[in-house]
Amino acid sequence: MEYKRHLITSALPYANGPVHIGHLAGVYVPSDIYVRYLRQKGEDVKFICGSDEHGVPITIKARKEGITPQDVVDRYHTLNKDSFDRFGISFDIYSRTSSKVHHETASEFFKELYEKGEFVEKTSEQYFDEEAGQFLADRYIKGTCPKCSYEEAYGDQCESCGTSLSPMELINPYSTISGSKPVKKDTTHWYLPLDKYEGHLRKWILEDHKEWKSNVYGQCKSWLDDGLRPRAVTRDLDWGVPVPVEGAEGKVLYVWFDAPIGYISATKELTPDWEKYWKDKETRMIHFIGKDNIVFHCIIFPSMLDKADGYILPENVPANEFLNLEGNKISTSRNWAVWLHEYLDEMPGKEDVLRYTLTANMPEAKDNDFNWADFQARNNNELVAILGNFVNRALVLTHKYYGGVIPEPGDYTDFDKETIAQYEQTKGLVEKALDQFKFREALKEAMSLARLGNKYLADTEPWKVVKTDAERVKTIMYISLQISAALSIVMEPFIPFTAVKLNKMVNAPEIGWDDLGKMDLLKPGHQINKAELLFEKIEDSVVEAQRQKLEDTKKANEAENATVEPAKDEVAFEDFTKMDIRIGTILEAEKVAKTKKLLKLKIDTGIDQRTVVSGIAEYFEPEKIVGKQVSILVNLAPRKIRGIESQGMILMAQDADGSLKFVEPGEATKNGSTVS
Ligand code: 2FM
Ligand code: ZN
Repeated sequence: MEYKRHLITSALPYANGPVHIGHLAGVYVPSDIYVRYLRQKGEDVKFICGSDEHGVPITIKARKEGITPQDVVDRYHTLNKDSFDRFGISFDIYSRTSSKVHHETASEFFKELYEKGEFVEKTSEQYFDEEAGQFLADRYIKGTCPKCSYEEAYGDQCESCGTSLSPMELINPYSTISGSKPVKKDTTHWYLPLDKYEGHLRKWILEDHKEWKSNVYGQCKSWLDDGLRPRAVTRDLDWGVPVPVEGAEGKVLYVWFDAPIGYISATKELTPDWEKYWKDKETRMIHFIGKDNIVFHCIIFPSMLDKADGYILPENVPANEFLNLEGNKISTSRNWAVWLHEYLDEMPGKEDVLRYTLTANMPEAKDNDFNWADFQARNNNELVAILGNFVNRALVLTHKYYGGVIPEPGDYTDFDKETIAQYEQTKGLVEKALDQFKFREALKEAMSLARLGNKYLADTEPWKVVKTDAERVKTIMYISLQISAALSIVMEPFIPFTAVKLNKMVNAPEIGWDDLGKMDLLKPGHQINKAELLFEKIEDSVVEAQRQKLEDTKKANEAENATVEPAKDEVAFEDFTKMDIRIGTILEAEKVAKTKKLLKLKIDTGIDQRTVVSGIAEYFEPEKIVGKQVSILVNLAPRKIRGIESQGMILMAQDADGSLKFVEPGEATKNGSTVS
């Protein structure tokens, strides 16, 4: 079927944290490539995204930080919107689900289905926190896992054994809000009877959409084969879109009911013509998502759309799998990620390098890994050595030989003809891959054009030939220049910042996708601009710093998880009171000669000034600790250490990562004050 327009959505990221490379490789880079490709082909396309600002994790984060949920979403909406923009993700709109338009749209949508009698109303027992006076969402309840006895399992899942749970299955449940034991209380909710739609969904997905990616099709099939059950679309919560039904006070729409409606609200905000994009059969709607969103976009949201009036269904849902980082699962809570906003700050001007690497490693069919060694290699061996090198040689030689003017070509040799034939094929090959959402392959085909150019120059060696056959060089340069110009077109979806630079260099703003493969993109006599380097080599130190950052994260996580040393044997109170611990001030500090670990300290204990030898030299520089107040055990029997009499011991706290800290009074304290 021929379509008149395209509506491309990409999953609305939760506004409770920054976006990382996993999000980018899974959703935003592929959708942006696809949209840029459609735009270049002159298609009518709208690219929709925004923040998903409801849901329990946001309320939990707000509670933890002592701020409002609105504060949380304001912070991350701004951060993520700005980061996407800096990274060249070219949304037509980046909206948010706390907006008025969205609340109205979601509310109306619910009302429509409610009035049509599509929902099933059910009263059931749920946990209620009497101290906090509220029903407890799954994530607000913890207890012991019935499967593995882990004591910190959530109401919806045990993170220790991975079993998905319902709150009623937990042993010894407690509220994470008040810590109290919740009671069971009746509450009424509205359910979408997915079981009733099963037959229709089976036909629509399993028969009519056999072309969907196999990971998507497979997941849908397994959901359908398992049998669909009614799904509650409301929750007892105070953060979200209020349920627009009388008697539903204190209830909001389930976040997964309102979030995809966010695509509709955002389109409404974008254009008064929004209905054309949602209700006209000639619109082709594509949802870009990660694999954890498949059921919501292939089963639940289409069912909602189908039951409302006149909406189209998605034509495809090209979900990606997950990206790992340096061999480990990306994890927000463990800070195991490369955060987009940090990357942009730390690697200015390298947006395209990350876009390129993420595309080349895109987890299209299975989970895939991002690592800094590969990032560096892709940049140095591909972007610099192939694409950058080719373009630079072609343009620099054109300036050198012809003052930047495109020469008139002569007759083509057989080798030229072969090269041109390959050049002409690029358009079809890239299109074929992109049309099937095969982004890695599409990038590879686009890069093949740069390889072709590079090889062509290496084989024809114009810098040598120019000495003997200046006419021949004109043809070589002419062909190389056409390839350079074509690269500015074909690379644009993938590495748009570079494409713009390159297009400026070849000075041809008018060329576009349809011109790909033509042999007169730059006509004889056309003047090009100055050649600039498109990429620069990334040094080892740069990626080493990034790896070190991850190493530090790993250490911090290990320290956090390290078990605390068990308590020593009990001592009598009288024994403890024998210890005379005082606050003192370090007056002098110097290294003990010929030792690595020892510092000789002179300490004012308030009682006297005395010498203490302490094994802390590896942790502190002597001059930096002079003046510090410390706790010192003053009645420890003197000991000789390396010939120096040590008259006491200063107390140190040792962290799980091995680092040492002084046990010091929180504020200035008179020397000699007792510690007990
Ligand atoms: O998984 C997520 O990050 C969700 N916030 C995606 C929502 S997509 C859409 F439905 F809004
Ligand atoms: Zn468990």
